[in-house]
Amino acid sequence: MRRRSSGFSPQGQGGAEVKHAVALGQADSCSAIPRNQIEMFLVWKFRHLASRGLPARWQTATRAAAFRALIVVGSLLTMAVGCNRQQPSFEPNRVLAKRLELSESVPMEQATADVGQALEVLFGTPDTPKWPEFLDGEQPLISRERLARAGGAVSSDEEGRHFGLFREHCVSCHGTNGDGLGPTAALLNPYPRDFRLGKFKFKSTPIGSKPTRDDLKQLLLRGVVGTSMPSFSLLEDEDLEALTDYVIYLSIRGELERRLLNEAALELDFDGGERVFDEAAKESDPELYAEQMLHIQSQTQRIAKQWSEAESQVVAIEGPPAELPVGRWVDLRAAESINLSQMPDALEQSIARGKQLFQGNVASCAFCHGPEGAGDGQQNNYDEWTRDWTLGFDPRDPEALSPMLEEGALKPRNILPRNLRLGVFRGGSSPADLYRRIVFGIEGTPMPALPMKPDNPQGLTANQVWDIVNYLLNLSDDSLSTATTSDLEGSSQAKNG
Ligand code: HEC
Ligand code: HEC
Repeated sequence: MRRRSSGFSPQGQGGAEVKHAVALGQADSCSAIPRNQIEMFLVWKFRHLASRGLPARWQTATRAAAFRALIVVGSLLTMAVGCNRQQPSFEPNRVLAKRLELSESVPMEQATADVGQALEVLFGTPDTPKWPEFLDGEQPLISRERLARAGGAVSSDEEGRHFGLFREHCVSCHGTNGDGLGPTAALLNPYPRDFRLGKFKFKSTPIGSKPTRDDLKQLLLRGVVGTSMPSFSLLEDEDLEALTDYVIYLSIRGELERRLLNEAALELDFDGGERVFDEAAKESDPELYAEQMLHIQSQTQRIAKQWSEAESQVVAIEGPPAELPVGRWVDLRAAESINLSQMPDALEQSIARGKQLFQGNVASCAFCHGPEGAGDGQQNNYDEWTRDWTLGFDPRDPEALSPMLEEGALKPRNILPRNLRLGVFRGGSSPADLYRRIVFGIEGTPMPALPMKPDNPQGLTANQVWDIVNYLLNLSDDSLSTATTSDLEGSSQAKNG
């Protein structure tokens, strides 16, 4: 039985996306919006009313009775919206299976079921997530204890420790299996991330590498500014660690699923009855079972290895030289050796050089972001999350895509170059964050890595990148150069006086 039905209509009738979200919401409402969230809302509402003074005259007993009544109403409401408290399950990647079925002309039903079985043996279910033993290395990638805390149903124990963190905080957008298809997803722009591609945008490692644990944790602390991805800075550190584990867990699980489906479509001999995985073979044909399992394990290990290696792929950034101020920042430790009164000029010149580089042919930023950084360059690209399921199809043609849309895919949207004049940077707006984005590019999007000297003789130098950073930081605030001038004069006077 398919639980997800897409309400998206190729004709694009009004409200189609809303319908989609409602359909998803109903299908997943137990897992996505736990009943206690509705209860929590009612409790909050009650306290809110109470704090406004209206029921403050009530006796405590009356209050408690009213409170209980609210809970009952809440539960009835929850039932009324169709929550039948089914155990949530990891749904198969039906969108990809459908695309492969069409683009490779192979039946994918058996393969999809087999892959689902294999994944359950290795990774368990949303209520009881598992971490395969063959991934236990010297440096454990994630901990089973934290995995258990992040997974499962929402609850807390006597010590006040929280469980079911992913379901409580993330599922409404990212979906039970991290597919980015939670009940609210269709309404959000950008869409929530699908972790199953194993690609992440904001990290301290280059394109093609996984983010480090710390990158993910920082992302949770900060949120993705300018998108619906909120900051979780109010959670306990151990909760953030557990959620970090769970993102890695879902990502590895989802990437394995994609690999196995792709392999099945491209390599398996369906007519000869070949199977990705057959649990019954454990009894009937142990040799075949062992062979299938070994292959699946080695694929899993490959993906997990990339995660383990992330730490060693972090690229350290050297700060700008002392005589080059970046943004509003001057290295005052170097102030002894530099002449601070020259800093405003140095900054202005750097911004001017940055603008030239931005508009020039090597960096070619203007090609996408427009000559003044307003985001009005090239407009018709798609990100890799969309390309993955539209491969072989025209993403602009809803008719051709309708089989995948029916499986729950979200209507493709162009990925637009950012309007850099707004001063909103999703991956952080410190000079070092911007430096990283410019030099590494943004994985999964058209924003490319920058050719750099000495690897590329035509490339830019680190100082030239700092010039571009200065240009970007100045773009959102035309008065910044003036402000910086006076800031700096202030500090140089303080120093000289
Ligand atoms: C209200 C919706 C919403 C909620 C709730 C939410 N996210 Fe997100 N999340 C998003 C969106 C939207 C993006 C994509 C941002 C982008 O593409 O720039 C995202 C992106 C991400 C990314 C990818 C970042 C990268 O570098 O590519 C991770 C990891 C992530 N979220 C984890 C979480 C976790 C863990 C939770 C729960 C603790 C959570 N999110 C809750 C909407 C949400
Ligand atoms: C081929 C197109 C393309 C080129 C060339 C390009 N960008 Fe981008 N850039 C994008 C897209 C698309 C995004 C939005 C990515 C997203 O939404 O996830 C982006 C995002 C950004 C961001 C936002 C980062 C953040 O944290 O939010 C910055 C800053 C940026 N680009 C700077 C530059 C600079 C500087 C250059 C030149 C060195 C450049 N871009 C070249 C397409 C491009």
